[in-house]
This record gives sequence, C-alpha cells and structure tokens, in this order.
Amino acid sequence: MNTSIDFCGAKFPNPTVLASGILGVIGDSLKNVAEIGAGGVTSKSVWLERHEGHKNPTMMGSEHFYINAVGLPDGGIDKAREELGKYLEWKNSQPEGKRVPLIGNIVAGTIADFENIAGQMAEIGPDIIEVNISCPNVEDEFGRPFACVTADAAEVTRIVKSVSKNIPVAIKLSPNVANIGEIAAACEKQGADAITAVNTFGPGMVIDIDTAEPILANKVGGVSGPGIKPLAVKRVWDVAQAVSIPVIGMGGVLTGRDVIEFMMAGASLVGIGAGVFYRGSEIFSDVMLEVEEWMKENGVKDLSEVIGKAVK
Ligand SMILES: Cc1cc2nc3c(=O)[nH]c(=O)nc-3n(C[C@H](O)[C@H](O)[C@H](O)COP(=O)(O)O)c2cc1C
Repeated sequence: MNTSIDFCGAKFPNPTVLASGILGVIGDSLKNVAEIGAGGVTSKSVWLERHEGHKNPTMMGSEHFYINAVGLPDGGIDKAREELGKYLEWKNSQPEGKRVPLIGNIVAGTIADFENIAGQMAEIGPDIIEVNISCPNVEDEFGRPFACVTADAAEVTRIVKSVSKNIPVAIKLSPNVANIGEIAAACEKQGADAITAVNTFGPGMVIDIDTAEPILANKVGGVSGPGIKPLAVKRVWDVAQAVSIPVIGMGGVLTGRDVIEFMMAGASLVGIGAGVFYRGSEIFSDVMLEVEEWMKENGVKDLSEVIGKAVK
C-alpha cells in the first residue's frame, strides 16, 4: 500500500500536514509532530519583525467548532531562521523516505514586506513557502485580507514568486469570498505552484451569556474545526476545478474518512489544525491508520488515485 504523495517536487510520506499556527512554533515541536507521523509540517505564520498577538482569551473550543483570535504572534524572521533551521538540520539527517517536508508559512501587511519576507524565507530553504494572505484577524493597509480581492492576491503571488528562487510557492486562500476559484486561477496565472484552501471562516463571535460579553478578548475570531468541514470541502472542490496546480485542503479534519473526503474534492495534501485540540498530536498517526483501513476495505493500493475523484 502506498500512502506517499509527491507534491511540488517534495515527497510527503503521507498526505497529512500540520496546519499553520498549531504547534509549529519551534523546531522541536515541528520535529515531534513529524516523529508522531505527520506527512508534512507547516510553521506558524512568520512576520518580518516581532509581532504581538491579541490579548487572552484568544481561543475557545466546543464540540462542533473552534474559534481563535491569536493574532499571529511571532518572534520575527530572525527567530524563525534559528528554529526552522534546527528542524531542517534534523530532517536532513533522517533516512530517505523519513524526511518530513517543511512548509514555511509567511505573512505581511504590505506588498513590500511580502517581497522582503519571502526572499528571507527562501534563504532558510523550506520545501515549500506558504503565503498567508487570508487571516481574518489581520488586515492589509486597506482593512481587508489580500485574499479577498482577486487583484491583490495575484499581486502578492507575483511579488513572492519574483524572490522565492527555486522554492515552490503555495498561496493560502480565504474561504470568506464568493469567488475562490477565480482568485485561485489568478494566483496560478502569476506563477503560484500550489493553493492552500482554506484559512478560517469568519470572523465569528461567541458570547458568554453569564456575563453578556464576547468570550474572546478580540471579540471576534476565525472559526475552524468540525462544523466548517462541508464548507471547506466545497471551497477545495471549487479551487480544484479552477486550477491545474495541486491543492493543500483543510478545514475541520478529524478522521481518516475526512482526509479521503478532502482528497476526493481535489486536495493532494490535507492539513490538520484544530483536530490536534480534539484528538491530541497523535491525530496524525491515528488518522493514517484509519486511511489505511479504508484503503484496504476499498482495494485502493495507491492513495494518490483518490485525488480529485469527486471533481467532475
Ligand atoms: C489556533 C489557530 C492558529 C492559527 N494560526 C494560523 C497561522 O499562524 N497562519 C495561518 O496561515 N493559519 C493559521 N490558522 C488556520 C489553520 O492553519 C487552518 O487553515 C484552519 O484552522 C482550518 O483548519 P482546521 O479546521 O483543521 O483548524 C490557525 C488556526 C488555529 C485554530
């Protein structure tokens, strides 16, 4: 049975990927997730300079959804160079087939900063650069995420591609638009090597009825977790129909069946974010056991056969 996936020139031992912002803070935590069984690991979004996040409380989970407004706190690119460098050193010391690829996620508030940070991330040398233009809690200079305007998403792609050297670039899109397929196609036209879909939905709000106050200090946050899964699957399906570059799909994945579902919608790799809070970091190995069980039951020998099966 083969569960490895070739994606943008890198070999992922399996399609599960640690989504950005979850456990991906320091080299050792990325390494732990890789050792547990993730097929790929994504760093949290890295800024050029140190970036303060929002005040606590920044997250809350329930049975059906997860809401967060961490506000992308980060130590800046110099700190990331150290931590991602540690991870890459460990990864490269592993035998072939056990080298879990690193996706370096970047974020910025202006096009000029995207150019600067992408160039510096390229020097660190992750397997893929993922460009976060879609955080609902962080806006560009005009007060909206770049991913919500086709021309802005295309321009960020163009500038990042101009400095990313030979490292493939995935653009991470927002689900909070009416035309995600059109936006993905515009990024592809500017040279994007892959699309990541999707970031959190929202903004959303949860109110504590005992105090009549929003629970998050930021009042609003991005919504992820199991409740958004059908919405995310539809966005991935829309993107897969609109582009011919590969897709990293995510949004509410908790089980092996969810992984298969996203792959059938057109994802080659499948991110797990909030799922780590529901099933612990063992979710990566547990989910792959479930995927293998499904493959056995359904006579699937090579998992990549499943990609896009529901996209007509
Ligand atoms: C606590 C938390 C922090 C996140 N931080 C980031 C981040 O730094 N950069 C980013 O691109 N996405 C971030 N995300 C979005 C996730 O990577 C993912 O796109 C989204 O949560 C949907 O997947 P899920 O339902 O599996 O969580 C974050 C999500 C959560 C829950």
